[in-house]
Order: sequence, then C-alpha cells, then structure tokens
Amino acid sequence: MTCSELPELDPEDQPLIGALADRGAEASAVVWDDPDVDWSDYDLAVIRSTWDYTTRHREFLEWAASVPRLVNPPNVIRWASDKHYLQGLADHGLAVVETTWLEPSRNFDKRALHNRFPAREDFVIKPAISAGSLETGRYTATDADSRRFAIEHAHRLLSEGRSVMVQRYLPEVDAAGEAALIFLHGTFSHAVHKDAMLAPGEEVVGEGDTLYKPESMSPYRASAVEIEAAQNALAFARARIPGRSPASRPLLYARVDLVTPRSGDPVLMELELVEPSLFCSLAPGALDRFADAIMAELRMGPDTHNIALA
Ligand SMILES: Nc1ncnc2c1ncn2[C@@H]1O[C@H](COP(=O)(O)OP(=O)(O)O)[C@@H](O)[C@H]1O
Ligand SMILES: [Mg+2]
Repeated sequence: MTCSELPELDPEDQPLIGALADRGAEASAVVWDDPDVDWSDYDLAVIRSTWDYTTRHREFLEWAASVPRLVNPPNVIRWASDKHYLQGLADHGLAVVETTWLEPSRNFDKRALHNRFPAREDFVIKPAISAGSLETGRYTATDADSRRFAIEHAHRLLSEGRSVMVQRYLPEVDAAGEAALIFLHGTFSHAVHKDAMLAPGEEVVGEGDTLYKPESMSPYRASAVEIEAAQNALAFARARIPGRSPASRPLLYARVDLVTPRSGDPVLMELELVEPSLFCSLAPGALDRFADAIMAELRMGPDTHNIALA
C-alpha cells in the first residue's frame, strides 16, 4: 500500500510491479485509506509508503488489523510504529540511542522541560511516533535561544498529546552518517549510507502534504560488526514483539538503522519495520531478492497471486 500523496508508489518501489509480473503475480499500488478498496480482494498486502500515518496512528493500526494478509503483520506494525520500543529493547540490554522520554500525561511546564534537556551538548527532539524526520529538531544546549526553541517544540508536541523523545545529538552522524541495513525474511540483503539530516539549529517542520525530508543515500558496504549488530537487534525485536515467538517466521522486510560511535560498537537509532524505504535501486540484485521474498510470502498463503502495494 501507499498513501494518497503517492498513489502510484514512491519511484523507488515502482519497478517492483514489473519484477512481480515477471514472476507471475499481479501487483498494484493501492492507497491504504481509500474507502473503496476491499482488502479481501488481495492475496497479500505489502506496506511500502504509508508515510502519512504518523498523525493518524490509531486509525492506521485499526486499518492494519482489518487487512486479511498484511506484511509486515499488524502486531509488528503496532509495536514498531511507536519508538517506545527502543526503551523495551534497551531494558533488555540492547545498545540503543540513549533517550529521555517526555510523556504528555505528566503536564510538564516549561521549566521542567528545560531541566530535562542536556546542559552542554547538542540535542534532538522528536515525537515517539514519527517518520521521515518530520517534527524533528536539533538544538544547541548552551544557546539560550536554541533552548527556548527546543522548549517550544517539545511543548507543542506534548500539547498535541504526543510523547516526545530527547536525545543527545550523536556527532558521529555528522562525521560518518548512519548505516541502514536491509534484511529480507531475516537474511541480510544490502546496506545503504544516509547522510546527516539535521544542521545545527534545524527544525524539520511537516507542513501540508510534506511526507518526509529528502534524504541523501548512497550504496554502502556494511562491516561484519554492523551486520552482526543489526542481526542482534532483529533477534531482540523478534523476541519482544507481542504475539510473536522467536520461532515465528522472519519478517518479510526489516531495516536496521545504526550509528557507530568513534570508539565502540554500533548503537541502534531506529528499527524500521513499518514502511521503510528499502533503496533496492542502490544495490545490485536487491529488487530481485525483494520480489522473490514477496513471492515466497505469497506461496505461504492461498494459491492465487494478487498483491496490493500500499
Ligand atoms: N540522536 C540523534 N543524533 C544525531 N542525529 C539524529 C538523532 N536523532 C535523529 N537524528 C537525525 O534525524 C533523522 C531522523 O530521525 P529518526 O530517529 O531516524 O526518525 P525518523 O526517520 O523515523 O523520522 C536521523 O536520520 C538523523 O539524521
Ligand atoms: Mg530514521
């Protein structure tokens, strides 16, 4: 499925339709919240670019639960679409980006917010339910104006009833960027490199139909250490997602975003299990592997071949 702003899918995913046709399946782009769609017409529904769900979270989860054969499945979508999962993984010993959580139910006043921001280092504020870097801001702790903007930002999100994450800005993101590792049915497929998204003082504001801040991605050769860290993060997730046992089938698609500190092992920035761009165009063979994985998923179900790409 896709969203109404991208009814023909993201250009990155359009070649998938031909790759699936080559394999004997008829796939079409379908908008997730189109009321005229009968999801039981499809043998499989694969989420691809439903990027407008973050401000309609409850509606999106209800929709996910109503689709007969959705991948990734609704329990995974529910768990992975709220970044509180990072805390759950950290509690079980996984290295994740350290986060202070601000919950709307606490009714923080501006002073209390100020006291929860780092004293010295740049920091990031973002909503727990977010995508595409929208509503994400980078602030300078020692600059009074920047701190004030950060307080306003956090206050605005909290007043909308949204949980807020405060993180130290990891300087490694400026120096080396992020590594995004893509897994198909649990097997490492390829990796891409993502440049830093936030300049000092930058606030990415989602306005109108904006779905995401454009990213600068490039092909990347992941190290053995990164692949192992990503596999470990996925194993942690599989053990913790409600309704899944470690023995259940691996996820059709997963993207693990890692940042590696100058000295030390990679830390998890984000686990993209809902609607990640998979950047198949940046890695030879990746599109074929993704199409093969979708076909394998299809074969686990009824003997017909209609696929909705949302
Ligand atoms: N703690 C952080 N340190 C450095 N950069 C960050 C941090 N948090 C977010 N960013 C930047 O903002 C981008 C978006 O944040 P992310 O947590 O990946 O949310 P999403 O991709 O869901 O919008 C990241 O790709 C990164 O460039
Ligand atoms: Mg991200």
